[in-house]
Amino acid sequence: MSKTLLVTGSSGLIGSEVCSYFSHELGYAVHGVDNNQRAVFFGPQGDTRWNQRRLQSTLKGFTHHELDIRDRAGVLALVREIRPEAIVHTAAQPSHDRAAAIPFDDFDTNAVGTLNLLEAARQACPESPFVNMSTNKVYGDAPNGIALREFETRWDFADPAYEHGIPETFSIDQSKHSLFGASKVAADVMVQEYGRYFGMPTCCLRGGCLTGPNHSGVELHGFLSYLVKCNLEGREYRVFGYKGKQVRDNIHAQDVARFMAAFIQAPRRGEVYNLGGGKQNSCSVLEAFAIAERFTGRRQVHTYVDQNRIGDHICYYSDLRKMRAHYPNWDIRVSLEETIRQIVEAWRTREDS
Ligand SMILES: NC(=O)c1ccc[n+]([C@@H]2O[C@H](COP(=O)([O-])OP(=O)(O)OC[C@H]3O[C@@H](n4cnc5c(N)ncnc54)[C@H](O)[C@@H]3O)[C@@H](O)[C@H]2O)c1
Repeated sequence: MSKTLLVTGSSGLIGSEVCSYFSHELGYAVHGVDNNQRAVFFGPQGDTRWNQRRLQSTLKGFTHHELDIRDRAGVLALVREIRPEAIVHTAAQPSHDRAAAIPFDDFDTNAVGTLNLLEAARQACPESPFVNMSTNKVYGDAPNGIALREFETRWDFADPAYEHGIPETFSIDQSKHSLFGASKVAADVMVQEYGRYFGMPTCCLRGGCLTGPNHSGVELHGFLSYLVKCNLEGREYRVFGYKGKQVRDNIHAQDVARFMAAFIQAPRRGEVYNLGGGKQNSCSVLEAFAIAERFTGRRQVHTYVDQNRIGDHICYYSDLRKMRAHYPNWDIRVSLEETIRQIVEAWRTREDS
């Protein structure tokens, strides 16, 4: 009998990639939980039903559950019924800009929804690895306190202590997080606690910009996906502050799924990893324009808004050394260029169909 994986947020970018990877590559029977809440958070452009249908028609042994993770009784009952061999939790309100407008929905989904799942796992399957998608926003704007150097197209760390990027030991305390960052901190610490206090095999993956061809990027969430979409449609992309030189850490969803698989095969307790593409896969907004233009052959139409987004990082890329030390068989496989090429191709295909 095949092993069973429960994935929350299964119609989203990361969730759907995880469903495909574990089904195709590892032969898991996958149960997906998603209620298309992204369309409620972001409107029709955030709709993920197309992705749900894609999973239902392409994955063998995939079961979709139309469930809101805020529904505590529903979550407890489902996890008790399935008793999955592993849980990957990716359902979330993922935008820090959006959170300020919907603080209750944000906290109830990100913090309380995570607690519902953790407690359901503790009651039904405490030995099953539990992987939580966290975010680098748990560090708040503290990374902006690091001394920086300005280059022609990007900012970079001037302090040699961060030559490899931001490590997991960086403080998550006493900085501005946005309400989204704070609700994700609550979830992150709770996931660590279920590992430390109850001894469960849990981990938090503090992602940077996770992306790939299945991303339904919108202005407030989904950096490269939205940027490429604007480029292809000749739509104006708004750059918010920092001269467009703000550096983002990009990782392809497939490399995220591969790391999750590595953790599930050899889990540890209450761990934290900065899961990003590292310095090599980092780029500034201006640099992303240039790469997208190379693949689309179209100039990026953009305007500059001289006001950065609240809490936005000026420069962030992950130090990957802890992940590589704990899981030496894992490394980044998809380059930044290849990721952008795939996003261009995917938007073209989606728009043609
Ligand atoms: N994409 C990124 O750049 C990025 C960066 C850092 C961290 N993360 C984290 O990774 C995780 C996944 O992000 P993503 O980019 O795949 O987001 P996404 O919005 O594409 O996917 C999330 C999915 O969860 C579903 N969902 C939301 N609320 C729900 C609820 N209450 N009940 C059931 N389903 C619900 C949505 O409908 C959506 O399909 C999130 O925890 C996010 O904070 C993402």
